[in-house]
Amino acid sequence: MPKRVLVTEPIIPSVIDTLKKHFEVDVGERGTYNNEQALVEDIPRYHALLPMLSNPVTEEVFRAGQRLQIVANHAVGYNNIDLEAAHRNRVHVANTPGVLTESCAEFTLGLMLAVSRRLYEAQEFLLEGNFDGWDPLGFLGMELRGSTLGIVGMGRIGQAVAKRARAMGMEILYHNRSRLPTDIEKRFEAGYCAGIESLARKADILTLHCPLTEETTHLIDGNILSLMKEEALLINTSRGPVVDEAALAHALHEGTIGGAGIDVFEKEPEVHPRLQTAPHCLLTPHIASASHKTRKDIGMLAANAVIGILQGKSPSEIPN
Ligand code: DGY
Repeated sequence: MPKRVLVTEPIIPSVIDTLKKHFEVDVGERGTYNNEQALVEDIPRYHALLPMLSNPVTEEVFRAGQRLQIVANHAVGYNNIDLEAAHRNRVHVANTPGVLTESCAEFTLGLMLAVSRRLYEAQEFLLEGNFDGWDPLGFLGMELRGSTLGIVGMGRIGQAVAKRARAMGMEILYHNRSRLPTDIEKRFEAGYCAGIESLARKADILTLHCPLTEETTHLIDGNILSLMKEEALLINTSRGPVVDEAALAHALHEGTIGGAGIDVFEKEPEVHPRLQTAPHCLLTPHIASASHKTRKDIGMLAANAVIGILQGKSPSEIPN
């Protein structure tokens, strides 16, 4: 009997084809498994689960998954998975670090440029028929060159952002759980801020690249936002709950910060209504990793973890 794999929603077809060479594969309809109950009901039939970051893989799911050997998340972030429950139920958990570093960093720079130079506001202005010729005072924005980038979370993605920001002529400051070795700091000419408060005070742009944990939930709250410079920008491509969305909306409406580029939200797919009407705020639907190449690489890494574990390899042999 071939082993059975559940991919919770359609992903790049060649990844599914790869899995089908080895296993019986079911692909759920988009959104079907965004609730625990649907997973609990279906999981008993499967040996492997390849979920999206929107699927809650909880204690109940692990308990119901009597045959389950591996959960290979189609994401680098795995805050949707109860890791302790996985451990208790002896299920291996894999994620996809590394393969989306560059696309997330590129996208972050894109958001920084789009918000600092007000690209989307300018397009709206033009499409509404307001363009009456070159304006010496029109759409003035912040130049990245010479400005200070505050990076929260200096892991792979944070460092890939720093590399690009240095090429743009930005100064780098960062806050991280632990200070980086001197050679890495030197590579980016990056200064360390032990406290998030001092980083918030100094940054012209604050960009978030930390995982979502209890400690980072609402790390950027009303207090931190109130410390930011009046013209400073906030960029979030990490996880929505790292930012208190209501406080951010308030800061933007009050003009106590200059703008924001936000790709992730506290209660996806909901977006705080006050954020939707906030000025100088570019909102995108969680697409930082959405390049053809990266989404294929994410899928293949997750699929290879499934193949490895179901074929009897030990977790240490699984590429990560
Ligand atoms: C991840 O992999 O965690 C990203 O948020 C997906 O884009």
